[in-house]
Amino acid sequence: MNTRNPATPLSTNPKLLKWVEEIAQLTKPAAIHWVDGSKEEDEALCGQLVAGGTFIKLNEKLWPGCYYAKSDPGDVARVEERTYICSVKKDDAGPTNNWADPVEMKAKLKGLFAGSMAGRTMYVLPYSMGPIGSPISQIGVEITDSAYVVVSMRIMARIGKAVFDQIDKGLFFVPCVHTVGAPLAAGQKDVTWPCNKEKYITHFPETREIWSFGSGYGGNALLGKKCYALRIASTMARDEGWMAEHMLILGVENPKGEKTYVAAAFPSACGKTNFAMLIPPASFKGWKIWTVGDDIAWIKPNKDGRLYAINPEAGFFGVAPGTSMKTNPNAMLSLAKNTIFTNVALTPEGGVWWEGMTDTPPAELIDWKGNKWTPEIAKEAKAAGKDGLSSHPNSRFAAPASQCPTIDPAWENPEGVPISAMIFGGRRATTMPLVFQSFNWTHGVYLGATMGSEMTAAAAGTVGQVRRDPMAMLPFCGYNVSDYFAHWLSMQKKVKFLPAIFHVNWFRKSTDGKFLWPGFGDNTRVLKWIVDRVNGQTSAVETPIGMIPKYEDIDWTGLNFSKEDFEKVMSFDKEAWNTEVVSQEEFFFKLRDRLPKALINERAQLIARL
Ligand code: OXD
Ligand code: MN
Repeated sequence: MNTRNPATPLSTNPKLLKWVEEIAQLTKPAAIHWVDGSKEEDEALCGQLVAGGTFIKLNEKLWPGCYYAKSDPGDVARVEERTYICSVKKDDAGPTNNWADPVEMKAKLKGLFAGSMAGRTMYVLPYSMGPIGSPISQIGVEITDSAYVVVSMRIMARIGKAVFDQIDKGLFFVPCVHTVGAPLAAGQKDVTWPCNKEKYITHFPETREIWSFGSGYGGNALLGKKCYALRIASTMARDEGWMAEHMLILGVENPKGEKTYVAAAFPSACGKTNFAMLIPPASFKGWKIWTVGDDIAWIKPNKDGRLYAINPEAGFFGVAPGTSMKTNPNAMLSLAKNTIFTNVALTPEGGVWWEGMTDTPPAELIDWKGNKWTPEIAKEAKAAGKDGLSSHPNSRFAAPASQCPTIDPAWENPEGVPISAMIFGGRRATTMPLVFQSFNWTHGVYLGATMGSEMTAAAAGTVGQVRRDPMAMLPFCGYNVSDYFAHWLSMQKKVKFLPAIFHVNWFRKSTDGKFLWPGFGDNTRVLKWIVDRVNGQTSAVETPIGMIPKYEDIDWTGLNFSKEDFEKVMSFDKEAWNTEVVSQEEFFFKLRDRLPKALINERAQLIARL
């Protein structure tokens, strides 16, 4: 039995103690709980969430250690339009971020947070992004009034007493304040998913602070992920000479047992988790893909002149719909136990289901809004113009990364893993070939800066339009994106052996709308070429847009993919590229104030080559 009084501080750090006191004074919680991160504490909190109706414990035989939650229907995703970078100067947030004056925003937040935790427990949650003690890791402390956040963060980050010990040794921490913004009056009964209609996800890059109001969901509330590991960390990385990137990390092992690590940036909803957990085709005997991370990479120059990366997270916060034993068995095995599911559907046996998990849906479910769902009901709903979905399209699993069958043995190496290649990609039906390599680092930065993805949202007029999403960081760069490009370019001065940069597109379509590339496991064939390139084991042909493989350079064993098929998926369409450079220019025009000259020059060179 844990007899510890949770109100007793677990740290002696004066700065931390003072800040906790200040926030408690402001938010007026009913109790304070210093999170020790123990299993007993976790069990007690999950028990509390079950008792309060936020959690349903899933069938222990089918889904051991798993819980189910459904959110308020108005609190289901990151809210980019409510996300602010509050730098002192507006220009330092840049044209792609919402900006607010830090003094004005603080005043507004102080008003919103005043008394916001009344009737609730205020948790003091210490967390390490990256293995505790790694020179690449960073620490945060999240004050939150959500027990759901605490138990989710226990999966997504390293939390607890060991982190307080680091703070007590004097390590820097980022203070993060989070409230669901739903104070309880005396005797008022709580709802199962407290939140507020008004939401503010705010970042103060100069003072390295995060304040989040009104949401209990995902990236809005689990502040270690997008808020810290990308927005605040990107500013820390700029100032300190490293990189915080929206990149998965994987290791490619060849039959000789040699491993090459690759980091890859794709915009949201382009199958990053699937790529990070790729299974090579059966014909690739002796090849293995190892998973280091599926979303974020922190990358630092090492003494040996190379870049090394860690995955700052400890779990996968993956989109559930579409995940199945066919599309991603490693993700399915990762989430088979000790996982928190939010906004998927419940089965009568006390399990979960989502669209795409199995070919045939269960006969009956409770949908993410708590209503009865059957295939017939779904059909009728669709006929009436509703989505008929059992699970929200952004429903998620939070699963421990350690449970992934392909988790890399080095995934928690404090020094990280050496990165040999970086890949940019997007969802492009036209223009972009299956793969090409940049001529050099500056050209690679240009490829990242101009990358884009076709929008899949059903919003009128936007389908098929290319949204520029530089380095997949558009919603996540904590400062002016032009300065971010300059920072990327500056790595050339800091790193002797830079990774090679590639661009891929798994989504090219024929004129009659069919995918030209099988994708999934067959992406290994492209990865093999990339790895062979960086290891000097294959050649490439120079074209106006970059270096491309010849048909013979790709290993086709086990796949019926003719030279004509290859030529289609690699084809260069001059007209499409003319349109592409104009569209890239439109994006650059928005960034013109601070855009590095080197990128303007790259563009001029591309036009000349075209
Ligand atoms: C994510 C995202 O949830 O990129 O990882 O949106
Ligand atoms: Mn992401």
